[in-house]
Formats: sequence, C-alpha cells, structure tokens
Amino acid sequence: MKFTRILGVAAALAAASVMAQEAATVTPAPEIQPAPVATLEADNTPATFGDAAAGATKAAACAACHGVDGNAATPMYPKLAGQHESYIARQLSLYKSGGRDNAIMLGFASALSAQDMRDIGAYFATQKVVPGTADDSLVASGPNQGRKFYQVGEKLFRAGQPALGIPACQACHGPTGTGVPGPYPAIGGQHADYTALQLTAFRAGAVWGKDKNANAVMAGVAANLSDEDIQGLATYLEGLHNVADAPSAEALAAAAAAAPAPAEAAPVEAAPAEIAPADQATPEAAPQG
Ligand code: HEC
Ligand code: HEC
Repeated sequence: MKFTRILGVAAALAAASVMAQEAATVTPAPEIQPAPVATLEADNTPATFGDAAAGATKAAACAACHGVDGNAATPMYPKLAGQHESYIARQLSLYKSGGRDNAIMLGFASALSAQDMRDIGAYFATQKVVPGTADDSLVASGPNQGRKFYQVGEKLFRAGQPALGIPACQACHGPTGTGVPGPYPAIGGQHADYTALQLTAFRAGAVWGKDKNANAVMAGVAANLSDEDIQGLATYLEGLHNVADAPSAEALAAAAAAAPAPAEAAPVEAAPAEIAPADQATPEAAPQG
C-alpha cells in the first residue's frame, strides 16, 4: 500500500535527519494525515505512472516560464526541476479543477489529461534543480538585529520555533529540502520570491485543494511566521541543496552506529568512504508514487 511505503520513507528520513542534525536540535513535526497522493480528480481517466520521455515533449509548452529543464530563469516562476512526479501531477490537477487558484496555470493545466500530468511530472522529476544563493542581507532591527536573514531561516528550517508552534521544516521536507515523493514537495534551491509568495499565502490561510483533496498542513505551519521569518526561510531555501560530496544518510547512520559514545567524539572523516552522488543521497531514489 502506497501510504505505508510513504510513511516508511518519511520515518526513515526523519530518523536520518535527526541523526544528521545531532538529535537535540530537531523538534519532530506533529503527525499529520497522509496527504492525498495525486488523486487526479480533474480527469477520471486513471493515470498510470508517468513516462519521462513522453513528458519531455509535452513539457515544451511550459519552457517559456519554467525553463526547458525545469530551472525557471525568472524568480516569479517556480523551478520544477527535481520536483516529485506525484506532487507536480497533483498540483496540475488542482489548477485544472480550480482547487489551487491561479489564472495562468488554470490555462495551461486545462489542456492536460491526467496522463499528461504524470508524464510531465516524471520528466521534471528526472531533472536536477540548479540552486541559487542565499543572500547576505542583515536583519535591521529587533531581537535578530545584525544576524543574516538566512541564519534566521536556517534556525527555523532545522529546529522550528516550538513556543510559537512552528515545526522544523526539515521534519517533512528533509534535511536538504528534497522532500519526500508523495506528500512532501522539494523546496530546496527554489527561487526566494516564489517561496516567499507561497509562504505568505499559506500564512493567510491558503489551502490547496478542496474537501478530501485539501491539504491544510502548510496553513498551520505558516500561521505564526513573521515577515522576517518568511524572508529568512525564502533566502535560506534558495541556497539549500544537496552536495555531491556530502556523506549519504546511510553513511551518517553507519558512522553514528560505529562511533563510541558520545557521538561528538567521532570525527566526520570516520564515516565510511562511501560517498553517494547527490541524487542518491536522498529518498529521491525511492520509487515515485
Ligand atoms: C506564462 C508562464 C507559465 C507557463 C507557460 C507555465 N506556467 Fe506553471 N506556473 C506559472 C506560475 C506563475 C506559477 C505559480 C502559480 C501559483 O502561485 O500558484 C506556476 C506554477 C506551476 C506549478 C506549481 C509548482 C509548485 O511548486 O507548486 C506547476 C506544477 C506548474 N506550474 C507546471 C506547469 C506546466 C506543466 C506547464 C506547461 C504545461 C506550465 N506550468 C506552464 C507560470 C507558468
Ligand atoms: C508536517 C509536515 C510539514 C512541515 C513541518 C512543513 N511542511 Fe511545507 N509542505 C508540506 C506539504 C504536505 C506541502 C504540500 C501542500 C500541498 O500539496 O497542498 C508543503 C508545501 C510547502 C511549500 C510549497 C512548495 C511549492 O513548490 O509550492 C513550501 C514553500 C513549504 N512547504 C515550506 C515549508 C517551510 C518553510 C516549513 C517550515 C517552516 C515547512 N514547509 C514545514 C508539509 C510540511
């Protein structure tokens, strides 16, 4: 059953992220209902999993805004490269049904069948996101005065702010922002402008989808974010990415298991030399769906 598998992946990811983050800094996010996985209600034709090759051709219509490979050049258009197939397909069906309200995307999504949505999703999922760079600007006033916005964002991303009910973003979106195929979208490397726009909309209560297709998770997460938090998260996420020479989650787990307590005594170099390439260091490699 798909949900079981997704929850399994999420649990493994959460465990890995806890280990990667020296345990105590991570506040586990509240459990949520599994998000609906690409129930393509806009079109009753059952969609099978996508075909990336077919999707590459169909995605030509999207290139003007989202880029040929899904790395949109303009900050107001979201990058789709590296995004999960099921997430893309679900959003397209929500645009088509009006559940996610956007006049531009309503037009483009309306032309697509459920299978097109899957194929296009599969194509963009095979592309690599080209991350941006977090900007260096400083918070001008308040308790964080003199800190960089991205530092404010990083703290929230890693640990949340429990007193305000803000969960750690990485608990769902993963330590490098690659998300989990199924419910949790990739958010690392995304344009800051787009991220800020979405977080602002979530804070205002935006829920994408209706009834059983609704997913109100982010409206709850964002409810207590300040403008400063949103700017910090958006710029931090723009620069967040997986790096090719980072030890894999497996290597970190193995190092932690092999290390004599306390874990701090083990230098990172003690990890097995097995270095996973960027695209295998995350659950991206798990089957989509
Ligand atoms: C004229 C520019 C334009 C074109 C062409 C376009 N899009 Fe978009 N797309 C947008 C904008 C703007 C948004 C953000 C809308 C919003 O805020 O909900 C968006 C959002 C999306 C999202 C949601 C991304 C996310 O991270 O949630 C998906 C998926 C998407 N587009 C897919 C497509 C596909 C597939 C095509 C081609 C069939 C396409 N778009 C063509 C402008 C465009
Ligand atoms: C409990 C799980 C959970 C937590 C914690 C969480 N998110 Fe999300 N997030 C989601 C889900 C689920 C979606 C997809 C919503 C949908 O499909 O309607 C999402 C969507 C998003 C999006 C939209 C992505 C896009 O491409 O449009 C952004 C941005 C985002 N989250 C940022 C954050 C930030 C920043 C935090 C931390 C402050 C955070 N999330 C914490 C579950 C979570």
